[in-house]
Amino acid sequence: MINMAVLVSGGAGYIGSHTVIKLLEENHEVIIVDNLCNSSKEVVNRIIELSGKTPKFYEIDITDKEKMDKVFKENNIDSIIHFASLKAVGESVSMPIEYYSNNLITTLVLFELMKKYNVKNFVFSSSATVYGSPKTCPIKEDFPLSVTNPYGRTKLIIEDMIRDICYADKDLNIAILRYFNPIGAHKSGRIGEEPVGIPNNIMPYITKVAVGQLPYLNVFGNDYDTVDGTGVRDYIHVLDLAYGHVKALEKLDENPGLVTYNLGTGKGYSVLQLVEAFSKASNKEIPYKIAPRREGDIATCYADPSKAEKELGWKAKYGIEEMCEDSWRWQSNNPDGYEVKKFDEVAID
Ligand code: NAD
Ligand code: WQD
Repeated sequence: MINMAVLVSGGAGYIGSHTVIKLLEENHEVIIVDNLCNSSKEVVNRIIELSGKTPKFYEIDITDKEKMDKVFKENNIDSIIHFASLKAVGESVSMPIEYYSNNLITTLVLFELMKKYNVKNFVFSSSATVYGSPKTCPIKEDFPLSVTNPYGRTKLIIEDMIRDICYADKDLNIAILRYFNPIGAHKSGRIGEEPVGIPNNIMPYITKVAVGQLPYLNVFGNDYDTVDGTGVRDYIHVLDLAYGHVKALEKLDENPGLVTYNLGTGKGYSVLQLVEAFSKASNKEIPYKIAPRREGDIATCYADPSKAEKELGWKAKYGIEEMCEDSWRWQSNNPDGYEVKKFDEVAID
């Protein structure tokens, strides 16, 4: 495939930053657009440090169409990967307007400008959340879609929008990628996931317990119909996910129209199995207490990733051990995330 100029929306975020590094390694030109509402400028410095390359970086809110128009005018964009989104399920229940506004308007602005500047290739970050409560696992791409919260609904609305847009314009090539549960971090320990406040997702919660910033993990329910009663999920290394985007772009280069893929490993681990794997990888005990079930949670969720393997030539290669080791390396090297101490804050004794 020829090298492309790829606009990466949300490229300073957790999955975006790992994908940017992979794209740079594959010699693509990268244009990051991020308003840093859930990330930090320091991420861009670390991308430069790790890749030895300097992607273009625009600190812009993507809902601002005029500013985005300039980005399209200044760059000869071939493809877009659209990560930018608000993504906290609980927050979306209490702030639905912000979620609908941010997630839908960013996407519409990108589609309007794609039309104006004749950009044909687009990759969308969707989520296993669009499968709602699946009747069986593993989950295939043609399973029925439904959602239980405003965040999930923004993903499903955008997916529906994409299906309408592709029906109307047969020249467009769009990959909808449905991620399962991303964890892990870059092997260097220099970039990783940095949630604001108390984490909602399990891995950042576990790593915060391991560095002593939280006392114990609440295990949400031990009476599910699973191997040990705790919830089962398909955890996938963020580096595998990043590579999935490169493979999706290669697919779009063949003009396939609309394609949809699950990105998962196909294996499920329970909460207690994940805790055990993490303890082994980090050599840290993770104290936990059994708590009531979390509202909206399902017992089991894991992918059938065979379509992506067959059509993209993509398969997750990292196992749960490496996911845990890499999450731990990131958190233990950066207990306060990307917070970089300024000179006058450094204690001198
Ligand atoms: P993240 O919050 O780390 O990254 C999203 C980035 O988008 C952030 O850097 C944020 O500053 C930026 N952003 C948000 N709104 C913006 C706007 N209006 N203008 C410019 N920048 C904006 O999240 P992530 O975990 O990297 O997720 C990336 C994508 O993958 C999201 O679309 C998310 O919904 C989806 N996804 C994530 C998970 C997960 O568990 N992490 C699972 C499935 C799907
Ligand atoms: C995993 C398991 C919990 C925290 C969410 C979104 C989904 C997607 C990925 C964006 C479950 C248990 C968790 C804790 C626990 N995001 N748990 N104690 O709920 O599968 O998916 O993130 O698209 O849309 O819904 O991920 O990491 O929150 O939970 O016991 O403190 O860990 O009950 O079984 P989830 P999670």
